[in-house]
Amino acid sequence: MAMERTFSIIKPDATRRNLTGAVTKKLEDAGLSVVASRRVKLTEAQAKKFYEVHAERPFYNDLVSFMTSGPVVVQVLEGENAIAKNREVMGATNPADADAGTIRAEFAESIDANSVHGSDSAENAQIEIAQFFTEDEIVG
Ligand code: CMP
Repeated sequence: MAMERTFSIIKPDATRRNLTGAVTKKLEDAGLSVVASRRVKLTEAQAKKFYEVHAERPFYNDLVSFMTSGPVVVQVLEGENAIAKNREVMGATNPADADAGTIRAEFAESIDANSVHGSDSAENAQIEIAQFFTEDEIVG
């Protein structure tokens, strides 16, 4: 298995409920290391660009408005098989389908307010990391 980096966002529903530490602990307990982290309020342009792959989906506007509704924490996570491991610890997109013990099962409020985002492929991880971090801001 390869050492990988993936991109994570702790979403506004989680920061609003002061769950940044609780979410990060779940990630770290799964063997992922936080090698870059920044709390930011996304602009509409940033959120639109980040989710542009979903631009034609019916939930796009609600997603952009939710993601700009409060602070988020953008992170780079590193570890063995980090992309799949992060998706495993996040749980299913819809918290109603998420396995017990996953972040979304424990913390998410709804499919929109689902507490975390994680890259779904190595290619997207690279693109998403590059939207928010330069190489010298990532300290492994
Ligand atoms: P995320 O992993 O950040 O990627 C896109 C987000 O769109 C997703 O999490 C959900 O929060 C949100 N979303 C809302 N409705 C849907 C849907 N029907 N299918 C997938 N994602 C959805």
